[in-house]
Amino acid sequence: MAGRFITFEGIDGAGKSSHVEAVASHLRSRGAAVVCTREPGGTPLAEALRALVLERAMDAETETLLVFAARRDHLQQLIEPALARGATVLCDRYTDATFAYQGAGRGVDRSMLAALERWLQQGRSPDLTFWFDLEPALASARRAATRAADRFEAEDRAFFERVAAAYRARMSAEPARFVRIDAARDRDGVWAQIRASLEARGW
Ligand code: TYD
Repeated sequence: MAGRFITFEGIDGAGKSSHVEAVASHLRSRGAAVVCTREPGGTPLAEALRALVLERAMDAETETLLVFAARRDHLQQLIEPALARGATVLCDRYTDATFAYQGAGRGVDRSMLAALERWLQQGRSPDLTFWFDLEPALASARRAATRAADRFEAEDRAFFERVAAAYRARMSAEPARFVRIDAARDRDGVWAQIRASLEARGW
């Protein structure tokens, strides 16, 4: 039986990363084999590309190609084999992030992103996506309190407004795939929403 592919999305500072492990523990306690990973990254090559994308200045199209190159390697080396052996794959960000950050954030042509998605991913899309919805102003305050900014986190409010709007639009276009999480709640409140949606699916 093929495994499930679950992704976590939202603007920087929305707090999704800390919940990936919590979902993994929940699913493992119910007997699932779980692989936790992230994008860009998840394999040695993709992690090397991640370091370039987060730190080196480059134009938006170059950035897009590197993100897709990382994703292609990640799919081939890690995601597809894990799903084929029946594992659940939890991935911190995936292609929704490319449409949100490179598409809406940087203005890269959406039809080019869709073409690269078709070519490189061959239909692999998530079974479920948790979208951590948080006001850009609140997310920015949380980031400032916790860490130094990378190339994306250094972007201005307008950039994150566009990214957040793109996530909202993708959820409207595919409501069955997405679960919206109110990320303004505290950590326990966020986890309660996630656990309820897993249990509603019998997971
Ligand atoms: P993330 O892992 O959330 O950052 P952190 O380790 O700081 O929590 O994501 C890394 C950054 O990569 C994030 O700012 C969004 C960006 N990104 C894109 O621009 N396009 C993509 O396709 C992906 C997967 C991430």
